[in-house]
Amino acid sequence: MSIQLLRFPDGFTWGAATASYQIEGAVNEDGRGPSIWDTFCRQPGKVWQGHNGDVACDHYHRWKQDIALMAELGLKAYRFSVAWPRILPQGTGAVNAAGLDFYDRLVDALLEHGITPFVTLYHWDLPQALQDKGGWTKRETAEALAEYAGVVAARLGDRVAHWITHNEPAVTILNGHFTGEHAPGKKNPMDAAWAYRNLMVSHGLAVQALRAAAGRPIQAGIVLNCSPVHPATDAPADVKAARRYDGLINRMFLDPVLRGRVPADVQKMFGLLFRISDDDLRTIATPTDFIGLNYYTRAVVRHDKAVPFVQASEIRPEGSEYSQMWEIYPQGLYELLKRVWLDYKPAHIYVTENGIPVPDTLEPDGRVPDVRRIAYLRDHLAQVHRAIADGVPLEGYFAWSLLDNFEWAHGYRMRFGLTYVDYETQRRIVKDSGRWYAGVIRQNGVER
Ligand code: FCB
Repeated sequence: MSIQLLRFPDGFTWGAATASYQIEGAVNEDGRGPSIWDTFCRQPGKVWQGHNGDVACDHYHRWKQDIALMAELGLKAYRFSVAWPRILPQGTGAVNAAGLDFYDRLVDALLEHGITPFVTLYHWDLPQALQDKGGWTKRETAEALAEYAGVVAARLGDRVAHWITHNEPAVTILNGHFTGEHAPGKKNPMDAAWAYRNLMVSHGLAVQALRAAAGRPIQAGIVLNCSPVHPATDAPADVKAARRYDGLINRMFLDPVLRGRVPADVQKMFGLLFRISDDDLRTIATPTDFIGLNYYTRAVVRHDKAVPFVQASEIRPEGSEYSQMWEIYPQGLYELLKRVWLDYKPAHIYVTENGIPVPDTLEPDGRVPDVRRIAYLRDHLAQVHRAIADGVPLEGYFAWSLLDNFEWAHGYRMRFGLTYVDYETQRRIVKDSGRWYAGVIRQNGVER
């Protein structure tokens, strides 16, 4: 069989992504206030082996080296998040100049290396001071996000053109406020419902604040973690369950942002818990320039009366291959891109995260032979290529992640990086997948 090169469009944005709490460390330095993840990590039993982000990848001190690494890989773009508690330690009000300075230097250095910054405002590290007042269950937090967005864009907007309001609001709502697996660890449907309203409204307010403060045209969007939903069987009950589940994880986010409405079946599912005014819907639907999609796996769903509201739960289909966390299902990325494009017609789409945890080891020869990750990335990029060939306006792809890092409730056990981090020494070692990805970028294509 001959090798075929799947070429990507000229100017395709090849990137890698990270998030502040997962890599920065330095949680008590230069005036940073505590975040809800600092608090959550200290609660017994919440994070694997009590891990926390106190040091993480020490990126706050090693950012120059990390940018050199990005340049070595040939990245065209880098998606990172700003730590809100570094900028506004109390969440609102007093601005911490040292926090802004850090991201200012980072952005300058990225640009010097020809790497386009994609800045996420909220990747889950809410200032604890805001949580103390009710966090996302309070509307004031939505206004606070807009204030913070304005402060950051006023400083970086002259150089940063690509802005993301939220990373995966579904996770903040469901894991943070309903199952309690993530900070702030709430397990209350009412809290989740208010968090939904306030997070969505905060997205619209932040888009407006970004545009007002940047002082020039910018590209603003939101990052959603969507998955195709497949029924476990052809039985009508499972098919209906899959539709409800699709409402819960996909349409509940896509519809308000891109169509200014809550889908009727989702509204019915949650009844009086969901109260979103027409005014709020207009705010949520403030026009965006792109949608970012994070894709890891699909959802296979069966009817399950025991689950409140949605009456559906995920199963692990037999015969599939699994990573340490999820089913490996590359064609789901194609399905998702096609679906979001056909149903919603966003102007542009980016894959803002895609990757796989692998129990990587550093071998005596100094290499990290992560063949499973290379296969995962290759298979997913082939699906991305297919979607582009079908006309999906896909502008770029960001691998999760540049570095192994703090994987939330899983701590440092899960390694997603293109680069291995030896946490004892903080040494970075580019994995075989990192070298492979550098080759993809160089060729602007994937060999199959
Ligand atoms: C996503 C998160 C990201 C990372 C990956 C594995 O849900 O956005 O921070 O943890 O999963």
